[in-house]
Amino acid sequence: MLLATKNVLKATVLATCLALTACRTAAPEATIADAQAAAPIATIPTQPNLKVAFIGDSGYLADFEAVLTLIKSEDADLVLHQGDFDYEFDAGGFFAKIDAILGPNFPYLASIGNHDIASWRAGCGDPDGCYAQLLKDRMARSGIVPDDPDLNDEMYAVTYQGLKMVFVGQERRAINTLYPRYLQSQLVDDSHIWKICSWHRNQKAMQLGGKSDEMGWAVYETCKNHGAIIATGHEHSYSRTKTLTNMRNQTVDTRQHPLTNGVPGNPNQLLVGPGQSFVFVSGLGGRTMREQERCLPFTYPYSGGPGCNYIWAKAYTSNQTDGIAKFGALFIVFNYHGDPTKAHGYFKTSEGEIIDEFDITATKPNT
Ligand SMILES: [Fe+2]
Repeated sequence: MLLATKNVLKATVLATCLALTACRTAAPEATIADAQAAAPIATIPTQPNLKVAFIGDSGYLADFEAVLTLIKSEDADLVLHQGDFDYEFDAGGFFAKIDAILGPNFPYLASIGNHDIASWRAGCGDPDGCYAQLLKDRMARSGIVPDDPDLNDEMYAVTYQGLKMVFVGQERRAINTLYPRYLQSQLVDDSHIWKICSWHRNQKAMQLGGKSDEMGWAVYETCKNHGAIIATGHEHSYSRTKTLTNMRNQTVDTRQHPLTNGVPGNPNQLLVGPGQSFVFVSGLGGRTMREQERCLPFTYPYSGGPGCNYIWAKAYTSNQTDGIAKFGALFIVFNYHGDPTKAHGYFKTSEGEIIDEFDITATKPNT
């Protein structure tokens, strides 16, 4: 989309929302049937076996280098970093680590985290560099073209090897207005089989640590309605849900995860499509590892209580590691084993241990 067109969209949305307080209830919550009826037929596949590494909250010290080395050894094609980079506003130093291990042209995309704000904007004035500018420079070297060249608004979208990705930021004033409407505009007519929504912060119920409601439900519901996988960071642990049909109410898709004694089962077989998706927090990029504070006990199926509702398929926090900090990345391989509608996910530590493993099927509209 042309910059001018995109800016008109944003300006229109903002003006409308300033005039109408109803915009605070932005994203409509669709049923699966509603979402399927409205969805375009997804026909665009990714490249076969496209492997994406998802990390966040990394710092840029030795533990981050170990995670980058893991990503290299796993032969990933692309990294999506869900924010909180080096924690030192050292954009140049952060990307130097990536250059050294993955190479200067390796495709590396990112959402801004709350620790990255001061040095995000191109032209930020930091002598150590500005994240948005360095990301743009890297995209250009990688042959990736964002929907517009302005990343200062913390929103951009790209397609890489058939994977659609939409990134939004961490500005709280935008969570109920600009972000969901931008996501909607990017996803509503999109025909890619696999779509990713990426941001940094969470809702309390969408993580297992101490984070509060910081992102609003509209972004989650919008992406779920359009069948986009929701990638987040911020909490320094790894967690992954089952298939959800309503994020706000923590509703598990019990057709895909049949109930046994009240617990939705089949936790490692996920569906993604109009009206259904899943969320993960991949926040073990190298900074610290934190405790599980919610949805106890520490073992599957975790809690069925309010706010938890047995949505979690996997928790990997310091309570599952005897207090020893472990780091790693979630890898998802799209167009897996020759089937464009299949994907395979696994979380692997930099020590080589596989913590979580699951399969995803992209559903077809009206089936
Ligand atoms: Fe954060």
